[in-house]
Amino acid sequence: MAVTRITALTFILAVFYVCGSTNAAPNGRILEGNDAAAGAYPWVVSVRVDNSHVAVGNIIDASHIITSGHVVSELGSRAIAVSRVSVRVGSINQYAGGQIVNVESINIHPSYGNFLNDVAIIRLQKPLTFSAKIAAIALATAEDNESLVEGTEVAVAGWGLQLSGASPYKLQQATLKVLSSHECEYQAGYGYDSVLCLEHGVNQGIARGDDGAGVVVNKKLVGVASFFFGAGGTKFPDVSSRVSYYSNWIAETIAASNDA
Ligand SMILES: *[C@@H]1O[C@H](CO)[C@@H](O)[C@H](O)[C@H]1NC(C)=O
Repeated sequence: MAVTRITALTFILAVFYVCGSTNAAPNGRILEGNDAAAGAYPWVVSVRVDNSHVAVGNIIDASHIITSGHVVSELGSRAIAVSRVSVRVGSINQYAGGQIVNVESINIHPSYGNFLNDVAIIRLQKPLTFSAKIAAIALATAEDNESLVEGTEVAVAGWGLQLSGASPYKLQQATLKVLSSHECEYQAGYGYDSVLCLEHGVNQGIARGDDGAGVVVNKKLVGVASFFFGAGGTKFPDVSSRVSYYSNWIAETIAASNDA
């Protein structure tokens, strides 16, 4: 078991450095999709660093966004300067529309590292006004988590790279399937409690730019996209952070940021 994990991790590190580098060739994967209709994913925001899209974020209340930790990490759980980060809300176009909102603080999970606990909460400078195109998504509870059996269909939406290597301007959506922890351990050494693995077709799944994308079932956020394995066509599962595992940390982080 330990050997499997170490081998898998070495492999991930290797592919991460290849695919995660900005100079990497397109990895041939897409968030195989259809264009999302305006207003279909009102909780989805584009997280921007230095005015470029880097990740998807999910509105969880008027002042808070949840995304993956690695996209806003400077070193481990230390975040990059908030002045470099903003979000575009209320638009399915990553380049235009909606509004750009500045960020007040960023909290990366204190145990983030080694591709685990890859979650961060961003607090906005000004609370959002909800509308048909801007709304919060409910967080999955322990009870919702229990229903995430193998094969459960989940919706994921993002602006990640497409098969052509191009970055879509319109939000793309896809349906993936829950892979059980047992099966994920077997296939990829990622059977952790804190992880929700997703099965996808060849040339489908989360890609660079989909980091942080919400994994959604019945209008509840059950996962936050973390990373994907390797190059085009791989059958390895995609990895997301399991939201119910982080219920306490999310609630505490929001409460602390409201008190600050
Ligand atoms: C989620 O459900 C699985 C069973 O499907 C269980 O093994 C796991 O402990 C649950 N995790 C949380 C955080 O509730």
